[in-house]
Amino acid sequence: MAEAQAIPVATAPAITRREFLTYAWAASMALFMAELGGLSVLFALPRFKVGEFGSIFRLGTVGAILPRAGEGPREYPDARLWLVHTERGILALYKVCTHLGCLYKWVPSNFRFECPCHGSKFQLDGTYIEGPAPRDLDRFVIYLKDASGRIVAQTDPQGDPLPVPDPNLIIEVDTGKKILGKPARKA
Ligand code: FES
Repeated sequence: MAEAQAIPVATAPAITRREFLTYAWAASMALFMAELGGLSVLFALPRFKVGEFGSIFRLGTVGAILPRAGEGPREYPDARLWLVHTERGILALYKVCTHLGCLYKWVPSNFRFECPCHGSKFQLDGTYIEGPAPRDLDRFVIYLKDASGRIVAQTDPQGDPLPVPDPNLIIEVDTGKKILGKPARKA
């Protein structure tokens, strides 16, 4: 009986060490880029809901909520801010002392903000008066919007008081955008 003829089987060529390292590097780069893409999407998503600290608070229309210029401030506990109206415009002052982070208070009898922890004091517009605080009070960016939602004016990058041109505008405060107070002018 004739012997069965062995049929040669095609075998895949073995990959070299250099090829293996190249493939491994390419795979890890692809994984890295995929993770980077995923992280970018995560960062692009809003982290806070509207009305949650760290996001935008719609306080109301100027005419309805704003104290008269030079009057005491109005407190918004959820937004952690004091809404202030000075002769130069409005401010949204962050409620945390610029020294070591205590919650300072408005003291009507002295017409100023006072911190109970170490005695720092600030004027109505957040300007440092005395005490260990290193700077004026921090503030948030304010947007003044019309009824259609268009931004008519907003706080400048220095955090100066924002003039209010129209009592029908809506005040929104972005508690995710904090501007540090200016360095304290100490005697
Ligand atoms: S934390 Fe306000 S003065 Fe120290």
